[in-house]
Amino acid sequence: MKVALFGSTGLLGSAVENELKSRGHSCHSFSRRGTKTGQGYHASEDLLIENHESVTRRMLDLWPDAIVNCAAVSSPDQVKVNPALAHAINVGGSRHLAEVSSHLGARFLHISTDMVFDGSKSPYRSTDQPNPLSEYGRQKLEAEKAILSVTDENLVVLRITLVNGNSPGGTRSQHEKILHALANNEPLVLFEDEVRQPCSSENVASAMVELLERPNLNGLFHWAGDEEISRYQLGVRILRRFGMNPKGIKKGSLKKEEARIGLRPRHLGFELAPLVGKLKTKPPSVDKQLEGLIVPPSLYGWYREAADDPSRYVPRFSSK
Ligand SMILES: NC(=O)c1ccc[n+]([C@@H]2O[C@H](COP(=O)([O-])OP(=O)(O)OC[C@H]3O[C@@H](n4cnc5c(N)ncnc54)[C@H](OP(=O)(O)O)[C@@H]3O)[C@@H](O)[C@H]2O)c1
Repeated sequence: MKVALFGSTGLLGSAVENELKSRGHSCHSFSRRGTKTGQGYHASEDLLIENHESVTRRMLDLWPDAIVNCAAVSSPDQVKVNPALAHAINVGGSRHLAEVSSHLGARFLHISTDMVFDGSKSPYRSTDQPNPLSEYGRQKLEAEKAILSVTDENLVVLRITLVNGNSPGGTRSQHEKILHALANNEPLVLFEDEVRQPCSSENVASAMVELLERPNLNGLFHWAGDEEISRYQLGVRILRRFGMNPKGIKKGSLKKEEARIGLRPRHLGFELAPLVGKLKTKPPSVDKQLEGLIVPPSLYGWYREAADDPSRYVPRFSSK
């Protein structure tokens, strides 16, 4: 397949690019700023998804067999900074990609989120009624509806959960944020009553490429790992995985902090049927997800000094 991948420099998009290439597909990568090949990055072409004319022109020129959309303003805090721009990207850009895909007869795979739910009735099925608590969740839900109203043929909207993995910039995922906070001596509070069902970028990418290869699977699906865990416990497991004492993380309570930080879904788990029975890719355990994590390159020096047992993991990156 010739695949146009939007958001290829992100945490998930970079894993999708690796997976596409390893399964013999040709991948044309697009992102906001574009990149030359460098540390952790593949080359990507800059193409703003909110610029509909440029996107249409480029896709007509490329005429891909499939379009994958991992591009987004993906952090709820960033959406709050400029909601109008985020809307143009998360909703307008996504809807337009669905329209272009339909015009080209290309398969379209769009990524959405568990944050479309309010967290009061977990585990969620894909048929459950969404009720987003944040502007980010509202935009992602609006995008889903817009895409699914373009066509119900040759199209997948895949809702995913918190993603573990190594991002190209080394700052995007949970373990990267935790290690950066510790390295900068920033306070680190994680909530024990904020429960998620995380997955790894590699595993989500594998499920996505399978979905691209399976044109009989169309519509809205859920995908996640096979374990629920609180954000606090995930932080503890991450630090143990890197041979570090978890005392650097303070246990907090979302219930107590809600008045100050605003409402957030407390419990987001997914019912994985029917997709789990149809794919070869299986949802991974948390331990499996943590196996592939590495220390971000910019933190090597700090990590060697700060880890209680750096010897376990130093060889992973010093041998590269
Ligand atoms: N990360 C999670 O835990 C999580 C959980 C649930 C769902 N999701 C969903 O998964 C998808 C991927 O998330 P992610 O964590 O991989 O995001 P990410 O790391 O923040 O990457 C976002 C990607 O989108 C690109 N992008 C941003 N604005 C753009 C624009 N205006 N035009 C074109 N490209 C643009 C970025 O390019 P630059 O690098 O050039 O800026 C980057 O490649 C999103 O739909 C997100 O909502 C993520």
